[in-house]
Amino acid sequence: MKTKIINIDSKNIDIEKIKEAASLLTNGEVVAFPTETVYGLGANALDESAIKKIFLAKGRPSDNPLIVHINSKNELDKLVNFVPSIAEKLMDAFWPGPLTLIFEKNSNVPKIVTGGLETIAVRMPSHIVARKIIEYSLVPIAAPSANISGKPSPTMCEHVIHDLDGKIASIVCSDSSSIGLESTVLDITGEVPMILRPGGITKEMIESIVGRILIDPAIKKKHDQNLIAKSPGMKYRHYSPKADVIVFNGSKKNIVKKMKIELENYLKKGKKVGLMCTEEILSQINDVFSISLGSIKDMDLVGNKLFYVLREFDKLDIDIIFAEGFSEEGIGSAIMNRLNKSAGNNIINCD
Ligand code: TXA
Ligand code: MG
Repeated sequence: MKTKIINIDSKNIDIEKIKEAASLLTNGEVVAFPTETVYGLGANALDESAIKKIFLAKGRPSDNPLIVHINSKNELDKLVNFVPSIAEKLMDAFWPGPLTLIFEKNSNVPKIVTGGLETIAVRMPSHIVARKIIEYSLVPIAAPSANISGKPSPTMCEHVIHDLDGKIASIVCSDSSSIGLESTVLDITGEVPMILRPGGITKEMIESIVGRILIDPAIKKKHDQNLIAKSPGMKYRHYSPKADVIVFNGSKKNIVKKMKIELENYLKKGKKVGLMCTEEILSQINDVFSISLGSIKDMDLVGNKLFYVLREFDKLDIDIIFAEGFSEEGIGSAIMNRLNKSAGNNIINCD
């Protein structure tokens, strides 16, 4: 299939180009487009055969449900039976933006969208290009991240082209994603809301609006194989570059010490090692290939660069990536969730 690349300047939007992408969606095609979290791979959420094309293009397991993207709160009526009052508060506080809410679905939504579940994930993105495309398509748009299943999520158009060129009708290119980590997924169907996937909207931010919430224990207990994640997507290997990843946790001093020891071990075995760390750590370890995550003082930037850096390593002939671990406060929780998954939970505690 020839993939049509459509370039749209988010600061000077050409509505004709928006209409071109939107009409492909309305006509049952799959179109990748930018959002503030990561690029998404969209199709009409109410068109079963269009949704099938998403699963096919990504190679995504069919039990992994999609997030449906809307442009106005009115569109919720097409997807859910009722909107609980807690949802109203959360939507007022965080929409448009990187918060996905899980509702009980209505019968209009094909089961393929929700992986057979009776619940549905919905979010209103803030990226102006995403919003315009959804608006002009006149339908709710189901969109997983626009990567091949298992690969790091795409934060730049070139990542989407790398993974999906030739497999979908169109790719809309615009700026790189400003957040760079996928949305927080929050289940509000139970008595107490529960985070199923940490993301750009932190636990602390949600609690400031609705009081105490829970985190799916399967996210925290990384080593307990018996805990099945409530969000189906969380159980799959994810964000994996070609190289193996090892996460080094602990105080910064001990991370440097342990990385130096392990570096010697791996180099002796003839392995090519790459470091994925902040400047503060990189400045203390010499003579090894590295890509910086920025400064430890700017954790939002660390989150923003994470998938980009994992993909940069894919272009190189590296065997092992040593990744710096971070504290799980605030955005650190989403960063560590993605890092641990990319490492397949290959974690060294350095303290
Ligand atoms: O930021 C984002 O959320 C991006 C952009 C494109 O919006 N989308 C994204 O979609 O990350 P995806 O498909 O890569 O991840 C969706 C996650 C998966 O972990 C999936 O299992 C979970 O949301 N999910 C979707 N529907 C669900 C449901 N009904 N119940 C529980 N988890 C659900
Ligand atoms: Mg994904």
